Amino acid sequence: MSEKLIIFDTTLRDGEQSPGASMTRDEKVRIAKALERLRVDVIEAGFPAASPGDFEGVQAVARTIRDSVVCGLARALDRDIDQAGLALKEARQSRIHTFIATSPIHMQLKLRMSPEEVISHAVKAVKRARQYTDNVEFSPEDAGRSEEDFLCRILEAVIAAGATTLNIPDTVGYSLPEPFGQTIRRLRERIPNADKAIFSVHCHNDLGLAVANSLSAVINGARQVECTINGLGERAGNAALEEVVMAVMTRQDVFPCHTEIDTREIVACSKLVSNITGFPVQPNKAIVGANAFAHESGIHQDGVLKHRETYEIMRAEDVGWSANRMVLGKHSGRNAFKTRMHELRIDFTSEAELNDAFARFKALADKKHEIFDEDLQALISDAAAFEEEGTRLVSLKVCSETGEVPLARVTVRIDQEEMSASASGGGAVDASFKAIEVILKTDAQLLLYSVSNITTGTDAQGEVTVRLEKGGRIVNGQGADTDIVIASAKAYLNAVNKLLLPTTRMHPQVTGEV
Ligand code: KIV
Ligand code: ZN
Repeated sequence: MSEKLIIFDTTLRDGEQSPGASMTRDEKVRIAKALERLRVDVIEAGFPAASPGDFEGVQAVARTIRDSVVCGLARALDRDIDQAGLALKEARQSRIHTFIATSPIHMQLKLRMSPEEVISHAVKAVKRARQYTDNVEFSPEDAGRSEEDFLCRILEAVIAAGATTLNIPDTVGYSLPEPFGQTIRRLRERIPNADKAIFSVHCHNDLGLAVANSLSAVINGARQVECTINGLGERAGNAALEEVVMAVMTRQDVFPCHTEIDTREIVACSKLVSNITGFPVQPNKAIVGANAFAHESGIHQDGVLKHRETYEIMRAEDVGWSANRMVLGKHSGRNAFKTRMHELRIDFTSEAELNDAFARFKALADKKHEIFDEDLQALISDAAAFEEEGTRLVSLKVCSETGEVPLARVTVRIDQEEMSASASGGGAVDASFKAIEVILKTDAQLLLYSVSNITTGTDAQGEVTVRLEKGGRIVNGQGADTDIVIASAKAYLNAVNKLLLPTTRMHPQVTGEV
């Protein structure tokens, strides 16, 4: 029986550190549920000491998730660890992940601490974390540029203090696969109490090697990989979960371990993360890109038709790609709707919630002839975004004619009051955004506007992401509708609502405190 490789997902923490990828509490919960369906072992839900919003996000995930371990990040500081312990209090299974930098450059210039002081902070932090949970992870930040002898000393000390997972981060994405794998092997051999902890790796993708480095570490004994959906993360991102998992599954001839991920959930999870963060997936991205399983060349098509394995090493359906399937239509009843939603693992908490969703489904079915699974999922995502809104779209009228300046009239409800305004613009979407601005006067800067189709056909729903910036704060808004101008206005308002949420957060790695 091969050993288990633990999949630690940090989309909600390191992934969220990508500029523009910040998520609300409810968005974190939606992604966490998708990660649980994927059967991720550990979900790093955030950095509770960063801000009250981050604390609430981790707390909400801890309250919701039952099957995966929920983890909170903490610097090696009493306050951070106490905040993490508190945020995770209601988790069924919790982990505290504490870290401190160990490379000469970080210790001297960032922490201004001697190596001895760093060891003492690390040991103290691990002991304090153990007062909250017996599942404690320690990371020597910037391990990829740390001295191996020092790593051996600090890791031996934190294991003795109670750390159960040792995570070796290549924080700046500097490592190369062969030497990185050898470092993991040597650490395991040289640290006397190494057998008391699981070795983990956390690789950044600055040289495009995050997955290769992680896999090399696995071959050399690492039994946890930290990764993110779609490779989201700081700068060039983290190792992509879907690539690590499928490499291990596809090359069982090489890897002495297996994961327990339900790979059929990968594509749905990738789409959800892309939609919420507004980070599109490139078409040629491995596993989750739209073209990842498309054969264009005639020779390849011919080969695949004769025998699939001539050109395919994985099956598209094994990672959750399915042909759009028409499941429901205008005449489908409430029961059929409920059953299909249940099959898609979308369950309603009350009759009122079901009735509401069914009413939205009927409204969509009036506009769109065929309703696919993806439409049903978008319907729920759109409603979830809508529920958070203090400012809502009531109506939108646009006038667009060849040779004329497009005009939009928008009515929004702010709390209980309705307000309307008109504006002209370069196009219908531009005019709608300007009309909303006449009412709300946010003065936010539009950083990104993207539209994707949920299914195919001209009656497909458009899914729009809008990224706004104001005073250094960046947020994403989403909206879906068969009419992309309406979807755009919904997305704009969704982003504005998020801009209005109060937050002051700090970054776990740039603060000078530790
Ligand atoms: O990249 C990194 O070093 C991190 C640590 C907090 C593990 O994200
Ligand atoms: Zn990182």
